[in-house]
Amino acid sequence: MSAAKSAKPEIRVLGIETSCDDTGAAVVGDGTRILSNVLLSQSELHARYGGVFPEMASRSHVETIEPAIRRALEEAHLSVDELDAVAVTRGPGLAGSLVVGVNAAKGLALAAGLPILGIHHLEAHIYSLWLGRDEEETFPVLCLIVSGGHSDLYLMHGHGDYRRLGGTLDDAAGEAFDKVARLLGLPYPGGPAIEEAAKLGDPESIRFPRAWLEDTWDFSFSGLKTAVLREVRKYQPALAAGVNPPEPGLPIPNLAASFQAAVVDVLAQKAVRAAREFAAKEILVAGGVSANQELRTALQKLAPCPVRTPPLELCTDNAAMVAAAGYFRFQAGQRSALNMDVSPDLELVQN
Ligand code: KG4
Ligand code: ZN
Repeated sequence: MSAAKSAKPEIRVLGIETSCDDTGAAVVGDGTRILSNVLLSQSELHARYGGVFPEMASRSHVETIEPAIRRALEEAHLSVDELDAVAVTRGPGLAGSLVVGVNAAKGLALAAGLPILGIHHLEAHIYSLWLGRDEEETFPVLCLIVSGGHSDLYLMHGHGDYRRLGGTLDDAAGEAFDKVARLLGLPYPGGPAIEEAAKLGDPESIRFPRAWLEDTWDFSFSGLKTAVLREVRKYQPALAAGVNPPEPGLPIPNLAASFQAAVVDVLAQKAVRAAREFAAKEILVAGGVSANQELRTALQKLAPCPVRTPPLELCTDNAAMVAAAGYFRFQAGQRSALNMDVSPDLELVQN
């Protein structure tokens, strides 16, 4: 490494994220300072199908990955040789989408002689909480990760040191929002659409079931989804669920508000119970559903310790969080092999 390189004021990591339907490339300094954060969303493309269409997602990443990386470097005013490492999401996610990002990262790392770090998507979500952070962290930290694919509780004892307490047994929280939105004839992604519709509704109008799964840190949302479906069918008995547009009589705001209240109730209460049980110093909430204001409010109200949530634009998938996670692994001396494979079902474990 050259003298100029070792004198550099900060470690710069290029992050790449293509695990689902967003192509992301970002440069982050010292794991906390966002120098650029480019996100080319495919939401509009998939909205037509009411969910992510995997084949289309990977083909779209093929088209957008190079422009995304180029823009991330341009906006950071950096060239490739001013980077210290490339971090890329290697799983979990859609295999065909992950391959595009991982191969782009490998090509870049190989051409520029940079180390590469394969990052777990959930770890990246956790590290969205380090972006813009200027205080020292105090462990243990309770992490509630709620996204389209996960509703997990982890106890984090230090950087890269995780213990999984529990998670969803069926639908993830975000998945439940997306499926219920579809039942109500609301657009994809369902979370923001339900949150918006719920603002006009009464959360106590329909008492939907809560699956507490006592004595575990697990979640289950499929019963709730079925309960919403049963309620919707009262209004459209002759029609299949998921009709778009919905029946005119369907009380969408009340259904949305009552469903949201049931999800928030379980997530917030279980996270707070876990934080108490394990004497967590902080609760970190990350993933797409952490954008939900009702969830934030409920956690703030109940928590025995500070609750940290990412700024709204960093809740959903982005590459800055991948770069941040990569920085902490880079600093710990870790490197991935250039022949690393994608891992669609990767577990987040202590290492
Ligand atoms: O983390 P993310 O961008 O992708 C995954 O890794 O899955 O999360 C996307 C999920 C979607 O299911 C979306 O409906 C949900 O996050 N979401 C929300 C909100 N914004 C996004 N759920 C509830 N309330 C929101 N405001
Ligand atoms: Zn995600």
